[in-house]
Amino acid sequence: MSFLKTLKRTHYCGSLRKEHVGQTVTLMGWVNSRRDHGGLVFIDLRDREGVVQIVLNPSHPETRTAHELRGEFVVAVHGLVKARPSGMQNSKIGTGDVEVEVTKCAILSEANTPPFMVDDPKVSETLRLKYRYLDLRSPRLQGHLLMRHKAVLLVRNYLSGQGFVEVETPILYKSTPEGARDYLVPSRVNQGTFYALPQSPQTLKQLLMIGGMDRYFQIARCFRDEDLRADRQPEFSQIDIEMSFIDQDDVMAVNEGLAKLIWKETVGFEVKEIPRMTYFDVMNNYGSDKPDLRNPLKLKDVAKAVSGHGFKVFDDVVARGGAVKALAVPKGGTFSRSYIDKLTALAKQMGAKGLVWLKEENGTLTSSVSKFFSPEALAKIYAEAGGEKGGAAFIVADDFDVTCAALSMLRNELGRELKLIDEKTFKFLWVVDFPLLEYDAENKRWAARHHPFTMCKDEQLDIMLKRDEKQYPNLLAKAYDLVCNGYEIAGGSVRIHREAVQAAMFEALGLSEEETKLKFGFFIEALSYGTPPHGGIAWGVDRLVMLLCGTDAIRDVMAFPKTAKATDLMAEAPSVVAREQLLELGIRLAATVEK
Ligand code: AMO
Ligand code: AMP
Repeated sequence: MSFLKTLKRTHYCGSLRKEHVGQTVTLMGWVNSRRDHGGLVFIDLRDREGVVQIVLNPSHPETRTAHELRGEFVVAVHGLVKARPSGMQNSKIGTGDVEVEVTKCAILSEANTPPFMVDDPKVSETLRLKYRYLDLRSPRLQGHLLMRHKAVLLVRNYLSGQGFVEVETPILYKSTPEGARDYLVPSRVNQGTFYALPQSPQTLKQLLMIGGMDRYFQIARCFRDEDLRADRQPEFSQIDIEMSFIDQDDVMAVNEGLAKLIWKETVGFEVKEIPRMTYFDVMNNYGSDKPDLRNPLKLKDVAKAVSGHGFKVFDDVVARGGAVKALAVPKGGTFSRSYIDKLTALAKQMGAKGLVWLKEENGTLTSSVSKFFSPEALAKIYAEAGGEKGGAAFIVADDFDVTCAALSMLRNELGRELKLIDEKTFKFLWVVDFPLLEYDAENKRWAARHHPFTMCKDEQLDIMLKRDEKQYPNLLAKAYDLVCNGYEIAGGSVRIHREAVQAAMFEALGLSEEETKLKFGFFIEALSYGTPPHGGIAWGVDRLVMLLCGTDAIRDVMAFPKTAKATDLMAEAPSVVAREQLLELGIRLAATVEK
């Protein structure tokens, strides 16, 4: 360690370039790889910024440890930066023009043989998650964390510049409904009671507006006990934003500015004015409220063209007010039977009962339903679907949601399969005018589509106040989602700021007066003491960074992510706790849980 007392690091390994030639440098890092040529030992030394080749001569007294160096040893070296001999340059790495001729070398730390080589693509994710700290040494993951840092720093600076104040809100709190299950924390001091970890700081940020903070933001940790997917983690971060005395356009403008800045400063992409589309239009055109607009395929309504020809499947759906939609694809005329079977299986996965296809090949139209339609009728359907020469069209008939979900799935699959997506670009979209409420048929009640604090369109306020349930399906929310390349990266709304409207909303959601009082009494009371009109939004930091890094796995952009079963393989969390600890909390496990 005396080395560290006398010599301080002068450069990162990965930062050395031609212009450093002739300089004496001190580097610290990990042995990435070594080639021992007896007389000379070549090491790729790695740190956060990359690798550089260093050359050691073991016969030199100050570098005699060169033969002892092994993979992942931590070393400090001092030496001269030299140009690599001609023909020996490596254009694959930034430091490829130089090497460091080492005059002093000290081993700072030895390392056991690691369970895998850093950055070996063949290693299973399970093993990499168990040894996450080793995986974090890979340039890929380090790059992601650096990108995350850069993005969050831009956010902090931008919002501070716009008058937003960063405020921390509690993690031990009360249920904040965002549609998932809560994570509960038992209280020792007040036995039998529980905190809930916030699903988002939603009520807290609104209380900050009531508290007069005017413009708030927070890089907020959120906790949701829900089914996990590639873009979902049980705990994740939001850029949480709230502002007072605003309407929808004000929030959207601030956030559009933020999107422009982030993309320009991180990946050098110029975000143009972001188009807006209503929820209804976006569903009709793409079958999804978070469509990937890089994909040019669009859905078409073919209900008119298909009905009245005696094909019962379609006629029945039209009669009961369902949707018959088509997706036309260029060059689909040559799709094989087995590929169409795959598409049918995908549609069925999303709840469709089947998939009708039409194909145009060499001027002939064939179809899975040709026996139900005349050639003229088929040609008309194909034209309505937007079918082209040499192309194909797929039709699903079902309830609106199922039809949309199935065809959106096919749209994504076909976009990938036919390589219709430009992977290098970003396409943004604001989705607006969401329905305020949706009917939960299973529980026979209305549910808030965004969350229960969202305001309806001003002109529809009477419907809320008069509890006009028949009109509930027509209520539109002052809510907006920001979508990029098929991901919902941010979502927010203008809030209800009047006590009476909030009470009406809870009533619409079927909460009894007692329930409302128990869960949200403090919040409704707060609204009664002078609440500014306010609204906000929250970005998913992880999804944002996924897009910037070009990865489709959320685990890639978090330092210590959880598995799809919400476990941490490294620390083995969650884990059992001692009986005494449970007793202290006044908790006894159910017999079914106790082993
Ligand atoms: P919402 O629930 O839409 O809104 O969440 C906002 C954004 O957070 C991200 N997100 C997630 N990211 C990773 N894993 C998850 N499990 C997860 N869930 C959500 C998404 C999403 O767009 N309080 C409101 C915001 C508001 O109204 O201001 C809220 O939380 O990118
Ligand atoms: P069937 O008469 O049930 O054999 O269906 C004839 C064709 O219609 C098959 O190709 C099915 O895949 C398809 N089909 C059945 N139900 C639907 C539906 N709801 N939407 C689209 N296609 C369907």
